[in-house]
Amino acid sequence: MSATTETIQISSLSQRLKKETASEHERMHQLMASADVFSSREKYVQFTLLQYYFQQEIEHLFEREGIAELIPDLGIRGRSQQALLDLKDFGIHPQGKTLNTEHVPLPEALGWIYVSEGSTLGAAFLFKEAQKNLDLSAEFGARNLAAYPEGRAVVWKRFVQALDEANFDSAKQDRVVQGALDAFAYFGEALTYLNQLK
Ligand code: HEM
Repeated sequence: MSATTETIQISSLSQRLKKETASEHERMHQLMASADVFSSREKYVQFTLLQYYFQQEIEHLFEREGIAELIPDLGIRGRSQQALLDLKDFGIHPQGKTLNTEHVPLPEALGWIYVSEGSTLGAAFLFKEAQKNLDLSAEFGARNLAAYPEGRAVVWKRFVQALDEANFDSAKQDRVVQGALDAFAYFGEALTYLNQLK
């Protein structure tokens, strides 16, 4: 492998994100296991509230200047409406929450969106749990965990391609990674205090 090829491979943004947030992803597994969100509908509702608030943070970022140029298919992404409909199925009306991403700029915003899009992959597993343990479906209660109509893998691959085609230099990539770490921190904190969400 030539030095140039090696440099390109090492600095791929998607590879960096996966590698540099791996321990945070692992931490999410542990927090999800502790929260035990599929053990009752009450716990699952609290998790769906988190999904709703997190997706609101993410969809707010879709409007950030420059994002639509980098990710042209934003229209199909985001799941806050699905989470809201799921909550309605349980008779829950979210009371609202202050946005954390109000002032997150472009490179960091991509990191937040990465965490949201990546979480659609793990959601395949969560969707099965919701079906099996709580008798929920893509029509009732678990829309927010269902696959995109085109399928999870296709939509994910297209997102990864968009990330890498942004051609960010390493300073900008650092900021995307930081945004992803911030998004994981948001999700982790909310999972830790899940029963406090309203
Ligand atoms: C028990 C819960 C979870 C399970 C079982 C799970 C499982 C998975 C799996 C199987 C993948 C695909 C891995 C691969 O293709 O290499 C994945 C990717 C990912 N998940 Fe999770 N996940 C969980 C929770 C979460 C949560 C709560 C978040 C974020 C809030 C998250 C964020 C991500 C991200 C960002 C990726 C993409 C990693 C990459 O860059 O390839 N996951 N997850």
